[in-house]
Amino acid sequence: MRLAALACACSLAVGLAAAGCGGQLGGGGVVGANGDAASGKQLFVEHCGSCHTMADAGTSGTIGPNMDDAFAGSREQGFEESTFADVVRWQIAYPGIGLGMPADIVTGQDADDVAAYVARYAGNPDIEPSGGGEITATEGSEVFAQAGCGSCHTLAAAGSSGTVGPDLDEVKPSHDLVVDRVTNGQGGMPPFKDQLSDEQIQAVADFVTGG
Ligand code: HEC
Ligand code: HEC
Repeated sequence: MRLAALACACSLAVGLAAAGCGGQLGGGGVVGANGDAASGKQLFVEHCGSCHTMADAGTSGTIGPNMDDAFAGSREQGFEESTFADVVRWQIAYPGIGLGMPADIVTGQDADDVAAYVARYAGNPDIEPSGGGEITATEGSEVFAQAGCGSCHTLAAAGSSGTVGPDLDEVKPSHDLVVDRVTNGQGGMPPFKDQLSDEQIQAVADFVTGG
């Protein structure tokens, strides 16, 4: 809940930009000019949504803080969108060590885009939902990638090495188990029934079970 103390986080990000260290954050430390919120959405769904709930993105991860809740309060206090973008960009590059968010999940332009997207849409009641960005893949391997399964699971066929959930090469789950977990979630795994169609769930189960 470090964003709850956003004033503090902001002065950090803004202070750094002013001090000229912002180069690390890409383009002088101000993401706003560089980041493309529209391309950031899909990147958020793929790389962040598995851990973070955010209404506009349709994601329901619960490992990290809810992005809408994290930003709503400070938005009311009138912070600028560009400030939020810098805070998110900073968090991506420098998450608290040992707090559960890996550093540099996305880098460079991708990171600027995700930061711009979160800054514009998280907890923002004054803006139309961005639309699009749903998971449209029909191939199981692409569903696996777009739904962010690989950020939590190791699976050789997908080239993924996540360690939050069980290693799928090791546990070799049955087709039924994959369908059930992906549909309903369990423990640290979010349910995907609102994000994926039955066909997509079957396809990802085929892929995971080597079918
Ligand atoms: C493996 C899970 C995981 C992934 C993936 C992940 N995060 Fe996080 N995130 C966390 C956790 C846990 C925290 C709380 C600990 C911390 O602040 O470092 C957090 C904190 C944050 C915060 C600060 C929120 C606050 O209230 O302080 C932001 C902003 C954030 N994440 C954005 C992102 C973005 C953007 C991405 C994708 C590029 C992402 N996260 C990917 C787990 C994750
Ligand atoms: C945020 C992390 C996370 C994401 C994203 C995630 N999982 Fe999981 N998954 C877990 C965790 C944690 C468990 C263990 C849940 C438990 O048993 O309590 C699990 C369990 C499973 C299991 C059951 C394994 C077993 O033998 O018990 C399967 C199968 C599975 N996940 C497949 C998937 C697929 C396919 C996706 C993508 C559509 C996915 N997971 C996305 C974290 C995640």
